[in-house]
Amino acid sequence: MEAELQRLREGVLAGLAGAADLRALDEVRVAALGKKGSVTELVKSLGALPPEQRREAGQSFNALKRELEEALTVRKAELEKSAVAARLVAERIDVTLPPRERPEGRIHPVSQVTDEIVAIFADMGFAVAEGPDIEDDWHNFEALNIPPEHPARQMHDTFYLEALQDGAPLLLRTHTSPVQIRTMLAGKPPFRIIAPGRTYRRDSDMTHTPMFHQVEGLVIDRETHMGHLKGCLIDFVGAFFERDQVPVRFRPSYFPFTEPSAEMDVGCRRSRDELLIGEGSDWLEILGCGMVHPRVLQAVGLDPDEWQGFAFGMGIDRVAMLKYGIPDLRTFFESDLRWIRHYGFLPLDVPSTYAGLSR
Ligand code: PHE
Repeated sequence: MEAELQRLREGVLAGLAGAADLRALDEVRVAALGKKGSVTELVKSLGALPPEQRREAGQSFNALKRELEEALTVRKAELEKSAVAARLVAERIDVTLPPRERPEGRIHPVSQVTDEIVAIFADMGFAVAEGPDIEDDWHNFEALNIPPEHPARQMHDTFYLEALQDGAPLLLRTHTSPVQIRTMLAGKPPFRIIAPGRTYRRDSDMTHTPMFHQVEGLVIDRETHMGHLKGCLIDFVGAFFERDQVPVRFRPSYFPFTEPSAEMDVGCRRSRDELLIGEGSDWLEILGCGMVHPRVLQAVGLDPDEWQGFAFGMGIDRVAMLKYGIPDLRTFFESDLRWIRHYGFLPLDVPSTYAGLSR
């Protein structure tokens, strides 16, 4: 009997010591202490012993069981510890390694220029706002002082969707100006935001594509006036084109949602294949702007006698073409790899006003 116990004990202890991982350990446990394990069976066999032997045997069985259970707990803790250590080694990442020298892929000029614009306006204290591409008539037109029969609607060549909302079809936003409305409805003045995003019009030629990009700007407080508008945009083009002197002109214009309204042109030269900014005698329109119309303020529940400010809407693709000398807007959306390798930007050169916008 003693010899048998001893063999069993040594067998199980050897099994525990030899278990290479938690799974193997559990197998040893089940084989010894499980319902049908060797130790359990031994305890069961106690019942067959004569009563005078049973007591003594019972004590040594229990002692064995306790000893093995303790040994199991100790071994389990050991294995758990080494499992964690092994994972730490296997999953080790050296965060001090330099990034890959030649990152794959390129950043599209539209993404690059959007980041540049955001960086510049962020420095001037503007936050970035967003709105949906699918808009309703009220946000895209009505609230911007463009009622149903307004001739300005024709300028927009709207893509209408089949889905209706309040009896009017939903549409793809024709400009980022509805984000002005959404921003003013969602918060309390003062406001100082830009809203970059996709816009859509039924239009396609060298300088127009059915989907294009705009960035909206909106400043509303108590005192902002047209001088601030001009100063802000002149500062912007200087920073954006990374030149001290960029010729600009403001031409009087008309938008239903601003009064007075203007368009801003930048001086450029068009040579055969290229567009050069800041020289030459041509002008290229890059944005529309003006003082936010009192009716727009009323539409969002702001008192025009208390609040005022300016707004602008700029074509991101346009300024990207100008800055990087890209002659045909349509090539932006052709997904030609040779084009993106030529005009694209390295993913790790994130534009900032302190490190440089484009390098
Ligand atoms: N939404 C106008 C457009 O798309 C641009 C604009 C925005 C003009 C804000 C004035 C103020 O042409």
